[in-house]
Amino acid sequence: MADGNSETKSSNQMWGGRFASGPDAIMEEINASIGFDKKLYAQDIRGSIAHATMLAHQGIISADDKDKIVHGLNTILSEIESGSFEFSRRLEDIHMNIEARLATLIGPAAGRLHTARSRNDQVALDFRLWVKEELQRTEKALTALIAAFLDRAEEHADTVMPGFTHLQTAQPVTFGHHCMAYVEMFGRDRSRVRHAIEHMDESPIGAAALAGTGFPIDRHMTAKALGFAGPTRNSIDTVSDRDFALEFLSMASITATHLSRLAEEIVIWSTPQFGFIRLSDAFSTGSSIMPQKKNPDAAELVRAKTGRINGSLIALLTVMKGLPLAYSKDMQEDKEQVFDSAESLELAIAAMTGMVRDMTIRSDRMKAAAGSGYSTATDLADWLVREAGLPFRDAHHVTGRAVALAEQKGCDLADLSLADLQSIYADITEKVFDVLTVEASVASRTSFGGTAPNEVRKQIAWWRARN
Ligand code: ARG
Repeated sequence: MADGNSETKSSNQMWGGRFASGPDAIMEEINASIGFDKKLYAQDIRGSIAHATMLAHQGIISADDKDKIVHGLNTILSEIESGSFEFSRRLEDIHMNIEARLATLIGPAAGRLHTARSRNDQVALDFRLWVKEELQRTEKALTALIAAFLDRAEEHADTVMPGFTHLQTAQPVTFGHHCMAYVEMFGRDRSRVRHAIEHMDESPIGAAALAGTGFPIDRHMTAKALGFAGPTRNSIDTVSDRDFALEFLSMASITATHLSRLAEEIVIWSTPQFGFIRLSDAFSTGSSIMPQKKNPDAAELVRAKTGRINGSLIALLTVMKGLPLAYSKDMQEDKEQVFDSAESLELAIAAMTGMVRDMTIRSDRMKAAAGSGYSTATDLADWLVREAGLPFRDAHHVTGRAVALAEQKGCDLADLSLADLQSIYADITEKVFDVLTVEASVASRTSFGGTAPNEVRKQIAWWRARN
């Protein structure tokens, strides 16, 4: 609308041949994507240089025109990067903004760049390149987060804490083991990132509008120049496919969901009631009215960003679900979802990495909590199976009675006397007290992947070799 009436009346310079007048102002507003797809300028220019170079190599355009095109595109790149480029909404999107500027800079040779391609394969290329680079950044960010957890896990391989199910004290575990649960989660996220990169590693350029082209292009050459493993194999699929964006968003949603669960734990752990951790000043905020408060805002915002990211996945799935092959303009709505999610995810991973590295672990509080809530009841039951030969179900019952007695006396299991225990089951001996401490409980869980400190150290070593 800022362009004014006279401009909206003149027909578009890219397809004006068939049009007597320009678009209505509202048409221009709903149609334009330059407001957000200008983010793709570097990919668009890189793609155009590869395309022009291939066209010249194949004798489709002259070497002289190719040189002018490449020079002009490089000029545009520096104009955009220095902030002097004037983007125009009348030119709709990044592709036409760049091409129009190229025409001003180099004249008629600019008109040859669009030979044997369409904006349909062009946008598929640009966006793929962008998403691929974003995935590479995500892979690095996740590696840093995993490294932060490995360090904390190593430091706290022996620190006992209560393990929870239903957020009720279940069995003692170590904080190192708990940290390694997140290493597994973010490790899976990272392998999803790597798979997504592999899946999308094919070049769309040369699919043209949807049917390919009669010009003798070399799609293998452009694919190689742009760092893809090869060209896509079906031109119709190529211009209608947004799986790479959907895979990015699904990976982002699952990763954000993991971050959100961690955020929730950080919120809970940092309450005075739990007091398992203290967040650093760098990753918390104060209250303007209550001087005593230290709020886990960063964790809360990570938790909230998950809503945005999950929303983007659903939004793009919904955009795509009814589209017939091949390209439809609906697909222009893919970019904002991905850009917004990418920004949110990068920030969330970075904030989490900072919080995990900086937080103080209050081992004393964790240990005290680990011993309460009858957390070693399973150890008593296991002892009865092992030492007294009871079937597990009977041992469970006997232990339940011991817990009820302790509850009635207001003490922990380990504080019951031998006589108390023998009143419930006569064959219990003094030796039972060896398994009722949290340290003994944790040390006994030596099954592969279990919480015993030595097991956890093995898993840390396994991950260190792969991170
Ligand atoms: N701005 C468009 C998009 O993002 C570029 C492709 C336009 N293609 C077309 N046939 N109108 O999808």
